[in-house]
Amino acid sequence: WLQDALSGLAGYLIGGIPFGYLIFKAIRGVDIRTVGSGNIGATNVGRMLGFRYFLLVFTLDLLKGLLPTLGIPWVVARAGGEPSPDLAVFSALGAILGHNFPVYLGFRGGKGVATSLGALLALDPVASAAAAVAWFATFGLTRIVSASSIAGAVGFVAAYFARTPEPWSRERLAMSLFAIAIAILLIGRHRKNLKRLMDGTEPRVSLRKGPKV
Ligand code: G3P
Repeated sequence: WLQDALSGLAGYLIGGIPFGYLIFKAIRGVDIRTVGSGNIGATNVGRMLGFRYFLLVFTLDLLKGLLPTLGIPWVVARAGGEPSPDLAVFSALGAILGHNFPVYLGFRGGKGVATSLGALLALDPVASAAAAVAWFATFGLTRIVSASSIAGAVGFVAAYFARTPEPWSRERLAMSLFAIAIAILLIGRHRKNLKRLMDGTEPRVSLRKGPKV
């Protein structure tokens, strides 16, 4: 369990690097959490700075989920250790919690969409592809990023459980609990978006005018 805990901590410290906050602060000199939706994620940075910055922050946030999930078990194996079976899951969980509750920003972080996608790509690329399909299908219909992200989370869980034999067996228990917990966390972090969606005030992306997301 010590190995799992340390991996989670390493993932947390990496996942906590607030790329959206740092990039926006460097360019505008302002805390991104005080503008737009108040989120530190790629969507809000893109809303303020344009699509190129959306792509930059999205890629960096995705990598900080993907790299610890793949890299921490690799480092443990390279160091001569025997990676515990759930090491990747704990690293992934740490990275996502790091993004959402970063120690570097007083625990006020993001919603974990790009970081979760990066981590899930490492853990189950096929279910992640299903999540991406759900995201794009919803975005095509609504042009609303938050609704698309929520659909992506549901799509991941549905695809994971549809494809995974014996999800509650000992070997898959951690991953199955993780899949459900991450989806619940992601949806919970969108509660202000959900309220705006219900009120009909959640902004849509205007593709014609560029990066108004
Ligand atoms: O990445 C989070 C996205 O789903 C919503 O972002 O800024 O519209 O709250 P935002």
